[in-house]
Amino acid sequence: MHLATLRDMPATETQILQNAFQEFSRASDSIINYYAVLENQIRELKKEVEEKNRELTRAGEYLYNLLNSLPVGVVVTNTADVLFANKAAQKLGSTEFLSRLNNGGRKSGELKNGTGYYRWKRENLESGFESKEVIVLEDVTEVERMKERVERDDRLMAMGEMAARIAHEIKNPLGSMELFLSMLLDGKLKAKEKEYANYILFGVKTVDRIINNILTYTKPKTLALCEGTLSRVVRDTVDFMKVSAETRGITLRLNADFEGPCYFDPDLMKLVLMNFISNAIEAISRPEGVIVIDVKEERERAVITITDNGTGMSEEVQKNIFNPFFTTKDKGVGLGLFIVYNIIKAHGGYVEVESAEGSGTSFSLYIPKDEA
Ligand SMILES: Nc1ncnc2c1ncn2[C@@H]1O[C@H](COP(=O)(O)OP(=O)(O)OP(=O)(O)O)[C@@H](O)[C@H]1O
Ligand SMILES: [Mg+2]
Repeated sequence: MHLATLRDMPATETQILQNAFQEFSRASDSIINYYAVLENQIRELKKEVEEKNRELTRAGEYLYNLLNSLPVGVVVTNTADVLFANKAAQKLGSTEFLSRLNNGGRKSGELKNGTGYYRWKRENLESGFESKEVIVLEDVTEVERMKERVERDDRLMAMGEMAARIAHEIKNPLGSMELFLSMLLDGKLKAKEKEYANYILFGVKTVDRIINNILTYTKPKTLALCEGTLSRVVRDTVDFMKVSAETRGITLRLNADFEGPCYFDPDLMKLVLMNFISNAIEAISRPEGVIVIDVKEERERAVITITDNGTGMSEEVQKNIFNPFFTTKDKGVGLGLFIVYNIIKAHGGYVEVESAEGSGTSFSLYIPKDEA
């Protein structure tokens, strides 16, 4: 409104207008005040939200780190896809696992792959996470291996005892047969009769050798333990076997990382290694045959590993290889690994096998470094 207009107005109206102006400026002052207060509050709220966001991020990171440091595998899935897998689960190959876990809708179970045994459990997620589930996978390889070892020990002990008893029973009449055959051969025999008697004697001697093997190694009581360098004995045996391996185009390679002392029977250990290397050579039919022998230490044990790139074994064969007289070879006796097993057992050690058909086999011998 122009001043001229205000001046021309009657006094009362001017008053009213002035009051209105004052009212208006008071109101706008308080609006400005309120605005400042609001602005302050918003600033505070913003700070709070930022702080809460930081806390949330921290909590998320904390949870993430926690899940990743767990010794068990944790997988979150919506039954079709993996939404999250912690580090342990990723190591176990969670995607491959899940495809096998999703079959059958079971809540828990056990699973085996080439490298180990796993126990798993599944739970539905709730409150905001419906139709998702969490799967926990636990690596129980060590426990299962130990269980298998104990079962194998029991089975082989029973088998060994039976074999030893039978061997013992056969040994006496076999001794008499050998004696009478020698007497027969000393007497007057026709050439053909002599030839037949010699065949029988050869057969009797073969049986006698097998029987002696069983009796000697089922319970090797005469273990001549002495402190020595295991890698030296391994090296000697590898050098000795190299010639026969090379004539078949097979390379023998030795990696000796452990050169420290160990308690063992050197002669029996050579026999053990010769058995494993012979088996490896016999398992290789490809042109680039390689057998690698590693000597390492693992805490209180020395470990010898014999790895070949031969035929490998089926699971069924693997279950039976240590049984006496188990063989898949035409000319095999099936006593090699049985003897080896008993010798390592007598040292207070154990044998592990890993094998895949078509790609090869690896035997690991664990021998206590100190006297068992
Ligand atoms: N390195 C290997 N690769 C593949 N199969 C193997 C290996 N070592 C052992 N085997 C399997 O285990 C079986 C048992 O072996 P073991 O040494 O006890 O007997 P063998 O070799 O058949 O006869 P022998 O008494 O003459 O040694 C073999 O017949 C073979 O099937
Ligand atoms: Mg053999």
